[in-house]
Formats: sequence, structure tokens, C-alpha cells
Amino acid sequence: GDVAVLVPAAGMGVRLGPGGPKALRLLGGEPLLVHAVRRLALAPSVGCIVVAAPADAVADVAALLEPVAPVTVVAGGATRQASVAAALAVVPLEYEIVLVHDAARALTPPELVESVAEAVRGGHGAVIPVLPVVDTIKRVSDSGVVVDTVERSSLRAVQTPQGFRRDVLVKAHEAAVDEHTDDAGLAERIGIAVYTVPGAEAAMKITRPFDLAVAELLL
Ligand code: CTP
Ligand code: MG
Repeated sequence: GDVAVLVPAAGMGVRLGPGGPKALRLLGGEPLLVHAVRRLALAPSVGCIVVAAPADAVADVAALLEPVAPVTVVAGGATRQASVAAALAVVPLEYEIVLVHDAARALTPPELVESVAEAVRGGHGAVIPVLPVVDTIKRVSDSGVVVDTVERSSLRAVQTPQGFRRDVLVKAHEAAVDEHTDDAGLAERIGIAVYTVPGAEAAMKITRPFDLAVAELLL
């Protein structure tokens, strides 16, 4: 494959509750990170996987993933953005397409990885998978009163993997001045057009205990 995938997996999983780093929490008896990496490795485009692990767990994570797929493991940073930057720094230069994929989206189908990679290959410098927003969205004041209802038809919920031409992702991270929760946000900041492809419900992010329960049912 001609695609490198960076997997930020160094978060603490505070919203999931006590139990250690989220990427190492179990889903069907296996860590979320194992599920995520296994599905990435099943995508034919993927030739290189770099995982950003909690700094004190680099060796453990490398041992954990050894039987799953060939991966490089680096120490993550204090923020997701720092973890992505650390992983990006070690991608071999031959990879001109780089995807960034949250370990927390453990059940993402390989087909979604292929569809994002294909859109980058087709000439888009930045590509994100999105789904329509299903709930009515309202802006609410600090005191809990509705300010207005946000027009929903143009809104999308954003997933990963997010795909980039390598030079775009490098420039976006070099130019970063504040913290962004996704990499496409950094690309937007430097004026890159971000293209969307249809997301997948199975690419849901496991954030709270409810999400983990849903993922157990999906498995
Ligand atoms: N992540 C990371 N390094 C950080 C923070 C987050 O690599 N310093 C990763 C997480 O491991 C996760 C992805 O970024 O795979 C998305 O982050 P999120 O869902 O917020 O995970 P956590 O930060 O672990 O969860 P929480 O915010 O509830 O603590
Ligand atoms: Mg977080």
C-alpha cells in the first residue's frame, strides 16, 4: 500500500471513566487499539502504521500489536495534536498519502479507509468522512436558555480516518498555533479545501461508557 496511517492512541479516556488509557481498554476481550489496528491492516492501501501510545506504555503497546500487524510505536504527547505530530515525524518519506485515525474509532470498517485514501489519490489534499447530523441542534446560553436553533441541513458530524497529501498535513501541523480536535481543522486554518466523503456508523468514536456498550453489541 501507498498510504501511511497515524493512530493517536495516547489519550487517558477520562470520559470513559476509571480504568486506564482508553486505547488499552477492552472491547470483546481485546484492547480498542488492537481492534483499530487490525481493521487498518485489512485495508489494501495501508502500507505503514504508526501508533502514538501513552509515553509510559510504548514497549507494552509494541508487544501488544506485534502479532496484529507491523507497526511503529512512538510516545504520544499531552494533546491529540501533539500525538499526531509525534507520529507524523517518523513516517518514511516514500509515503505521500497520510491518514490520521483515532484508536477510539475501534470498529471503523476497512472500506472507509479505502474510500478516504482513494479521494486523496484522486487529487484532494484533505479528505474527511462525515455523517448528517440527526438531532435538532440549538445554541444555549451559559444560564441554560436557548439562544437559537441552528440550521441543520448543512451540518455534518466528522469522523476519522482523515486523509491528507503528506505535504498538506506537514504544513498544517507546522502552522498550528492553537489546539484543534481534528487535523482537518489545522488544514482549514492554512486555507486548504477539505473534501468530504460519506462516513460510516461503525466508525463511531467510543467516548463514554454508553458508546463502549454499543460497540460491544456491534462486535
Ligand atoms: N489522543 C492522543 N493523545 C492525547 C489525547 C488523545 O493520542 N494526548 C487520542 C486518543 O487516544 C484517541 C483520540 O486521540 O484515540 C481521540 O481522543 P479522545 O476520544 O478525546 O480520547 P481521550 O483523550 O483518551 O478521551 P478523553 O478526552 O475522554 O480523556
Ligand atoms: Mg480527549
